[in-house]
Parts: sequence; structure tokens; C-alpha cells
Amino acid sequence: MGIVIKTDAEIELMRQGGRTVALILERLGRAVRPGMVTAELDDITVQEAQRHGVKPSFKGYHGYPASVCVSINDEVVHGIPGDRELEEGDIVSLDFGAVFEGMQTDAAVTVGVGQITPEAQRLMEATRGALMAGIEQCRPGARLGDVSATIQKYVESRGFAVVREYSGHGVGRELHEDPQVPNFGSAGSGQRLRKGMTLALEPMVNDKGWLTRLSSNFWTVHTADGSLSAHFEHTIAITDVGAEVLTDLVR
Ligand code: MF3
Ligand code: CO
Repeated sequence: MGIVIKTDAEIELMRQGGRTVALILERLGRAVRPGMVTAELDDITVQEAQRHGVKPSFKGYHGYPASVCVSINDEVVHGIPGDRELEEGDIVSLDFGAVFEGMQTDAAVTVGVGQITPEAQRLMEATRGALMAGIEQCRPGARLGDVSATIQKYVESRGFAVVREYSGHGVGRELHEDPQVPNFGSAGSGQRLRKGMTLALEPMVNDKGWLTRLSSNFWTVHTADGSLSAHFEHTIAITDVGAEVLTDLVR
């Protein structure tokens, strides 16, 4: 399809939808506690989306059965909410996307359940830091490879591994648009960013190796070695001077 440049009016709709996506993720993060079943997080997502006038975009996407992805510990992405109970010390990645007035935004956070290990904390901080470092690279004229390489370096210099089999992506009228935004690569390579591009940057970071394995449910992605994994994602717009995060709570 090629890269789609958005108008200011389209970006304004994504700003509004993105704020709601951020709000719902924040609400979900606060709801997380030991003993809860993950289906409860899906219920909250459905309720809150309805209350705020956005439509969850994952439900039914290639047959995905829920409105939010809930990925626990060694689950990298696309965990399906169900009857599993969260336990103290787990880390939980919450990924949510929604449509508002025809425009999609997509974001994710990883949160701890109660007290978590220092290693899990470090993994989460490295993943969030990598996302923010990638966003800082985004401005007109920068290359996609600059973003990818920055994320990879940030992660690997902290002793973690970045998942290579899943990428960030363009987002807008569609949940997944061109270009792909890998979380590893070479600076100075790839397409140049332009004002009006809207991207979902989403590093997935593993405690040990970068290889993944698909679960028998054909959705949930696990680390191949069973190590912990964290995931943070923002939808951003390329502006004249840099990048605006569209899936932030306050702006
Ligand atoms: N943030 C994820 C992505 O960009 C979520 C998609 S889950 C799916 O791919 F269910 F919609 F596939
Ligand atoms: Co995404």
C-alpha cells in the first residue's frame, strides 16, 4: 500500500483517540492485582471503550478473540485474556488499540503484579527506555534504520535481547500500515521519515535470547527460552521538528 501521510485533521482525531487509549491502559494497569483473572481486564477494556466512545480494534482482527492483549511473564505479545490468575511477582504486558472517527491508535505498557524482582524491573525500564530513545530519533529526514538501531543499542547495552520476529508499524486508517519499524537494524539505512507519518513504535524485549515460539493457540507468542519479556508501545506523529506522542495521558 505504501506509506500514508496524514492530514492535520486526521492527526487531531488520532490525538483524541490516542488519549483515550492511554487512559484505558492506565486504568487497566491500576486494575492489575494478584488473584485476578485476566478476562476481567478484557471486561474493563470493553466497558471503558464504550464509555469513552472508541471501538477496540484487535477484536476480530484476523480472528483475534479479545479487545486487549494480556501477555504474562514469558509471553511476548498477543496473550489472550481468560481464566488464568495473575500472581504476585508476574509482569503483565497490556496492549490496546482502538478506532475513533475512523482513525486507529495502538499502545502497550508492561506492569508488575505486586512486588517484582529487580531483574524484572530492570527489563521493564530498559524496554520503556528503548521506546523513548527510539521516539527521540523520529523527525523529518531521519531514517527508519536510525530508529531501529537506537532501540537495539539501548536494549543490548543493558544486557537484554530485542525481539526480531515482530516489528512496529505505520498506523492510521488501518491498524497496520507501511512501513514496518523493526526494533533492530543499521543507522543510516531505510526510508526517510516525513512530516505527517504516524507510526506505532513497539520494542519487545527479552531477558535472555531474542527467539520466540508461537503457542498452540496460534496467537500467543512466547520467548523460546522461557525468559521474561516486556513490551511498551506508543503511537506517534512526525511533526515539523520531531515526534508527538499521541497515546499519552496529558498533553
Ligand atoms: N499492538 C499489536 C500489534 O501492533 C497488537 C495487535 S493484536 C491483534 O500488532 F490481535 F490485533 F492482532
Ligand atoms: Co502495534
